[in-house]
Amino acid sequence: MSTTTIDLQKVAKDHLWMHFTRMGGYQTADVPIIVRGDGCYLEDTNGKRYLDALAGLFSVNIGYSFGEEIGQAALEQMRELPFYTNWSYAHPRAIELAAEVASLAPGDLNRAFFCSGGSEAVESAWKLARQFYAARGGKAITDAGAEPQTRHDGQVAATASAPRRYKAIARNIAYHGTTMGALSINGIPALREPFEPLVPEVRHVSNTNRYHRAPEETEEAFTRFLLDELEQTIVSMGPETVCLVHMEPVQNAGGAFTPPDGYFQGVREICDRYDILLSADEVITAFGRVGYWFGSERYDIRPDLVTCAKGLSSSYAAIGAVVATDRVMEPFLGETSMFSHGITFGGHPTMCAIALKNIEIMKREGIVEHVRASETAFAETLRQLLDIPIVGDLRGTGFFYALELVKDKDSREGFSEQECEQLMRGFLSNALFDAGLICRADDRGDPVIQISPPLVAGQAEFDEIVRILGEVLTEAAVRLR
Ligand SMILES: Cc1ncc(COP(=O)(O)O)c(C=O)c1O
Repeated sequence: MSTTTIDLQKVAKDHLWMHFTRMGGYQTADVPIIVRGDGCYLEDTNGKRYLDALAGLFSVNIGYSFGEEIGQAALEQMRELPFYTNWSYAHPRAIELAAEVASLAPGDLNRAFFCSGGSEAVESAWKLARQFYAARGGKAITDAGAEPQTRHDGQVAATASAPRRYKAIARNIAYHGTTMGALSINGIPALREPFEPLVPEVRHVSNTNRYHRAPEETEEAFTRFLLDELEQTIVSMGPETVCLVHMEPVQNAGGAFTPPDGYFQGVREICDRYDILLSADEVITAFGRVGYWFGSERYDIRPDLVTCAKGLSSSYAAIGAVVATDRVMEPFLGETSMFSHGITFGGHPTMCAIALKNIEIMKREGIVEHVRASETAFAETLRQLLDIPIVGDLRGTGFFYALELVKDKDSREGFSEQECEQLMRGFLSNALFDAGLICRADDRGDPVIQISPPLVAGQAEFDEIVRILGEVLTEAAVRLR
């Protein structure tokens, strides 16, 4: 070990608080310290290389080799204007990026509100939905028949008989971030419980996991079940109090749940029927991961709001956005109305310059087209893993996949909590890392291995992912016998 390694290890153990990390585990074990990256690969302090089949956190879409070019764009921006704000002012990079995002987003998603990341985007989307109805005027908040009260700022206050729309609906096991609003939308009980009581009021409906449904159920019947449940939930909450339905095009947590046929068309119809805003959480799916600039386009979701972050800059910068349709923006264009929300670093010029350069690189390198052209080959390669006794299901699309691990493939029986802990934390996470593959062994829902490489990956990387996963999962199956 070099001196640098020893120092970094000691200082990391003494001072760094890692996110979602059992820090106690590092009293004795080494902290994994990644020092550089290129293409789809990372290198640690010992010079060991890893294939990053998770693209950082589902986010380094262009891979790790564009630091020079993006750094140059950042440097030029730093020289020109290192910081200015979007509070009451604009600057060229935020304007250009807003126009670029609007041109790539489907339909009339024409307005970008910038923030620093995914949680803030989700937080901002819920706040925007809450304020939208008040800003729009009495129509939506006067179901009970009361006249809306107009306040000095021209917006409409809820009255005792005119319930305010503030509630949200999301899906079970969905991850939407960690700030209090985003966390409340989050559908993972273990993440929610330590922080309860959360922000009122969110209910969670079934996600689109079909693997544990009755095998004879048709896709159409499954869609109908999901839509009936959503509608009943809205009705039971009081439709006039619900402002937001928030869903990922392909749900990550639980393992790459794609929507069944007709699902999002049905969700859209229900939202329209009850005058509720539909928000697509595209923090992972936007900017190429599912083979389109936005997953909403792939599944024809027609959302009112889109939240995005990670791939917007390929994670070279801390930037996210809520993108809103003209209809959502319209009430905020009144002379005295405004979205009462802001974040110092939202639309930071250097972050915007980096995001603009990232999009330029994605276009120049044909990255979205590459995902579309190679997604079938990727799926075919991953499918080989279904021969392993504990691999029950492979699901996903684009460059966004998950393998579900089961005890018994025929009955689809899962592992007990203790077996899961042993398998996922006791063996798989370390074994994969030791074998030089970064992907995520995740048991927030049923146990899955999440695979989401940089979008520049090709057949050589697909083969290596399958080779390492094949060896490690086969060994896991033997140990479990
Ligand atoms: C779908 C989704 N929404 C929101 C978030 C939160 O993003 P961030 O970690 O940038 O706050 C994530 C992060 O993984 C996510 O996957």
